[in-house]
Amino acid sequence: MDSFLIRGGNRLKGAIEISGSKNSALPILAAALMAEGKTTLHSVPRLSDIDSMCKLLIELGVKVHRHDTGGKSEVAEHCALNGPLDIEVQDETKNEARYEIVRTMRASICVLGPLLAKRGKCVVSIPGGCAIGDRPVDLHVRGLQKLGAQFRTEKGNIVGEVHGRLKGTRMYLGGAQGPTVLGTINVMCAAALAEGETVLVGAACEPEVVDCATMLIKMGAKIQGHGTPEMRIEGVEKLHACEHRIIPDRIECGTFMIAAAITNGELELKHCNLDHLIAVTDRLEEVGVNVTRENGTIFVSSSRRLNAIEMTTQPYPGFPTDLQAQLMALLCLSDGMSVITERIFPDRFLHVGELNRMGGRIRKEGATAVIQGVKDLQSATVMASDLRASAALVLAGLVGQGQTRIDRVYHIDRGYEKIEQKLMAVGADIQRVSN
Ligand code: EPZ
Repeated sequence: MDSFLIRGGNRLKGAIEISGSKNSALPILAAALMAEGKTTLHSVPRLSDIDSMCKLLIELGVKVHRHDTGGKSEVAEHCALNGPLDIEVQDETKNEARYEIVRTMRASICVLGPLLAKRGKCVVSIPGGCAIGDRPVDLHVRGLQKLGAQFRTEKGNIVGEVHGRLKGTRMYLGGAQGPTVLGTINVMCAAALAEGETVLVGAACEPEVVDCATMLIKMGAKIQGHGTPEMRIEGVEKLHACEHRIIPDRIECGTFMIAAAITNGELELKHCNLDHLIAVTDRLEEVGVNVTRENGTIFVSSSRRLNAIEMTTQPYPGFPTDLQAQLMALLCLSDGMSVITERIFPDRFLHVGELNRMGGRIRKEGATAVIQGVKDLQSATVMASDLRASAALVLAGLVGQGQTRIDRVYHIDRGYEKIEQKLMAVGADIQRVSN
């Protein structure tokens, strides 16, 4: 297993190219199961989660081909851009997403809607919990049942079947913690091939939902209201292949915005969309971070003093839960007492213990963490636990006095493409070592 060794204290300065969004690419890869012909996707990041989804698609009778590099990087030789990914369905008799793949990547649940709509049957291992807490799929199942699918559980699998064709209807899709991103996408995909109109009330509004809807429309789907809490989908008989570019990864971008702030550096983040980060920008500006944009580039720098703030995670367009841990790392160095409340995944605080081992003074009280700012963070040997908590440890390592060792960085490889190369290119002292 690989580890990162990071020597803290360097101010980051320079430009970073933001990759395509993991959380958009994963459901879009699953949606390509519904296309007839060859789908070509651009800006698909090279990540282990993407590899897992491609492996799953291959087991579901799909030919997957990644072209070589998509061209020279603007900022650093070794950050060559990715080539296009071709997806072509060849065999529609397969319909099982095995436990071995689902347990490593919960987003495999994205194949549920497309397989039911296109093949009439789907067997998906029930995704277990993960480091950020329970990951139920009851809203996915309920939404698909309302379209006429029938479900049963069998040996740890969800078995879904459709007799005849799914039928559109009006439904409420929200849950106790608000909308479900992948649940909205699953039901949207299924409704695209259902008979008649489906109205989704309480739909998730994340940019990743909009990106998947945009691709489905290119494939011939009739969708309105994507990006708002009420979506209308008029079912069609079939969907054809298309070419689509994945949107930039707003969570990767937000992570590097915080990297600039925590190291008191100056970063230019290229190929990103600041409109997807309005709540993050709002909170960072309150901390004292300067954020400006010019076309598709975001400029981030910070004054030495960091103000303590309050932040509560919300569904989009609120502050994303996927940047909660990273903001907490920054607030460890702010002047005063900050408060973070986690409304989406109330248990998403595994990073608290590790940040405290690096000198943070964080007290968790239920779904709230109180962060007392300190002058410095110390280096330590820490362990990555989940994708975003690991990113928070990298950020802390960038300012920790001395050398920080982060073990089990495979968690980071799931969601950050070439993170050590990108950080090295702007002055970070970081290296990957194999144990
Ligand atoms: C997506 O997960 C993202 N993953 C997550 O990013 C992200 O944290 C999450 O949305 C929230 O923004 C991908 O897109 C691959 P949800 P998703 O369904 O769709 C509850 C990362 O780090 N819920 O929107 O699975 C759920 O427990 C990952 O990149 C139900 O109760 O999340 C949570 O409290 C982590 N029943 C809330 O809804 C359900 O059937 C929101 O979850 C589904 C969800």
